[in-house]
Amino acid sequence: MTDLPIYPLTDEHKMLRDAARDFAQKEIAPIAADFDESGEFPNATVKKMGGLGFMGIEVPEQYGGAGMDALAYVLALEEICKVDAAHGVIMSVNNSLYCHGILKFGAEEQKLKFITPVASGGSIGAYSLTEPQSGSDAGTMRDRAVRDGDSYVLNGRKSGSPAGPVADYFVVFMMTDPAKKQKGVTAFLVEGNTPGLVRGKKEPKLGIRASATSEIIFEDCRIPAENRLGEEGEGFKIAMTVLDAGRIGIATQALGIAEAAYEAARQYAGQREAFGQPIGTFQGTGFKLADMKTRIEASRLLIYNAALAKEKSKKTGGRYSLEASMAKLFASETSMFVTHQAVQIHGGMGYSKELPVERYFRDAKITEIYEGTSEIQRLVISRSELGLR
Ligand code: CAA
Repeated sequence: MTDLPIYPLTDEHKMLRDAARDFAQKEIAPIAADFDESGEFPNATVKKMGGLGFMGIEVPEQYGGAGMDALAYVLALEEICKVDAAHGVIMSVNNSLYCHGILKFGAEEQKLKFITPVASGGSIGAYSLTEPQSGSDAGTMRDRAVRDGDSYVLNGRKSGSPAGPVADYFVVFMMTDPAKKQKGVTAFLVEGNTPGLVRGKKEPKLGIRASATSEIIFEDCRIPAENRLGEEGEGFKIAMTVLDAGRIGIATQALGIAEAAYEAARQYAGQREAFGQPIGTFQGTGFKLADMKTRIEASRLLIYNAALAKEKSKKTGGRYSLEASMAKLFASETSMFVTHQAVQIHGGMGYSKELPVERYFRDAKITEIYEGTSEIQRLVISRSELGLR
């Protein structure tokens, strides 16, 4: 990657980025295709990533994290995603959707209890918002939490939770007062071994297959009232605030996938000959490479910009929804564009499982869907521009 002069990296940034690159190439690259094929959750490498501090990069050291900034987080995540997007989403969800939310909205005891084991790498966190009948319109959820003395009793069904089959802890959003609609949503922290928390079957899927997504079913699942995150009715705002951070992670995932596909296509275009010359020397291929590279670098700028906006918001408290949504929208659509072109440049080899290019193509698609579809990102951006948010 280019060290863009407008975002000079510190020595600490570079050390973390190099450590993530080294780990990804040595430990993840040799197993990525097999785990994609089997769809098994890569427990051992995920635990090792945790041990290296990759699961809580922005979490302060007193809660087991690496205590670094938002730019450090995207630099490390990009390196993991260049090698395997499934490991990437597991890292993104743990850092952004799980740790970041508790750090921002949790009480001190909650931070110690629920962040420390995840940020220090021993345990895995997950995020459950979506339901079978409530996706982009997240405020319409039906799952219920009812207060009963010193407890809440949770009932319902959440879908699409990455790491759902294996996670040790969940941030879960439930309706506590349906009459209030969005303002009746509340967030909870749930331990994975709580009676009544049932893991549904692993969902078969197109890409990021090793990240093991499943339904999580709540059947009279009783949790202590002290596990409520924030106040009753604050859940929708918590979910949305956390998704702003999550969207920077998914944008970075999209960037990493695109970079891997681009590099494969660039090398192939230099080596593969047709009609007596390398295919890269044909304008039809060369111009494809030019567009791929330009969109990748533009994605990187939007992502670094969003990371800096997030960092600033830690001090000012302001929102960075616009920056996060622009980064996710552009990077995810770039990832689809680049992986599509990379398959085309590889011809029949791009369609074959002998090379990772077809995996990059399958993995890229989800980045346009989860943590807010491209349509939702356009909604957030246009509302912000029109002063409607
Ligand atoms: N930060 C803080 N507050 C926010 C916010 C944000 N980013 N976005 C909205 N809010 C607040 C608003 O200010 C408003 O508060 P007030 O009523 O006090 O003014 C309240 O929330 C409601 O806002 P809206 O009226 O804008 O809400 P809406 O119903 O129109 O929804 C939306 C807005 C952008 C469409 C939102 O519902 C959305 O982002 N939907 C997509 C959900 C999503 O991304 N789901 C993915 C789930 S996770 C996943 O994919 C799996 C995985 O983990 C990988």
